[in-house]
Amino acid sequence: MRKTIIAGNWKMYKTISEAIELVNALKRELFKLDGDDIDIVLCPPFTALSNVFETLAESNMQLGAQDVFWEEEGAFTGEVSCRMLKDAGCKFVIIGHSERRQYFGETNESVNKKVKAVLKEGLVPIMCVGETIGERERGLTFEVLENHLKGGLKDISAQEAENLVIAYEPVWAIGTGKTATPDQAQEAHKYIRRTLATMYGSELASSIRIQYGGSVKAENISGIMQQEDVDGALVGGASLKTESFAAIVKKASEVIK
Ligand code: PGA
Repeated sequence: MRKTIIAGNWKMYKTISEAIELVNALKRELFKLDGDDIDIVLCPPFTALSNVFETLAESNMQLGAQDVFWEEEGAFTGEVSCRMLKDAGCKFVIIGHSERRQYFGETNESVNKKVKAVLKEGLVPIMCVGETIGERERGLTFEVLENHLKGGLKDISAQEAENLVIAYEPVWAIGTGKTATPDQAQEAHKYIRRTLATMYGSELASSIRIQYGGSVKAENISGIMQQEDVDGALVGGASLKTESFAAIVKKASEVIK
């Protein structure tokens, strides 16, 4: 049994006071859910991490960051280390989001260094993989997924991989309102799990959680979650409002497979 994990990626939204307001409202909406049944993760921008952590205290929600740098410390202006994220209360770190690959030069090599650093610090990486529309149209989806997985997880042992979360995020579905159909999501997730099985064996692959991300809303979460290999969602736009994020979390928690 894989525990459902719903994460909100706030991207570059929310000042500290806006972040606190959202967290307090989510606490009121979601307090009945049991944190033993579902991981609810909030990933605010760096500036709000610490305040969100304080506001989350004793709730059923956990904290995540949107990126990290792999070095432990040093003269790296503008960067933040894994230890700093842990110190701010983070348990999860999103790595290799397509926006970072597209706008900030993230590559499989840098993703790999970040995943290693995050695991070493005892944090959970949420490693993003996914194809562009052009790649899908050219029939390259599986190839891209395999490349992202094998590149991002290079030299990572089975023991380390146990703590991994993968997010399948087709780039064409991110922020576009175009969600993958449940069948398209399942097809990609199944392929990801099969690839993980070739790398780590089927037992471990069957324990790794794979989230779907890309225009997830309250209206489409149930159909996606019902798919065998979908274990949760990484939610962007719809995680910025109490009503939509709370509805997604509640609906996801109701899906029993
Ligand atoms: P979206 O973003 O839900 O706004 O499509 C998802 C993501 O980028 O993680």
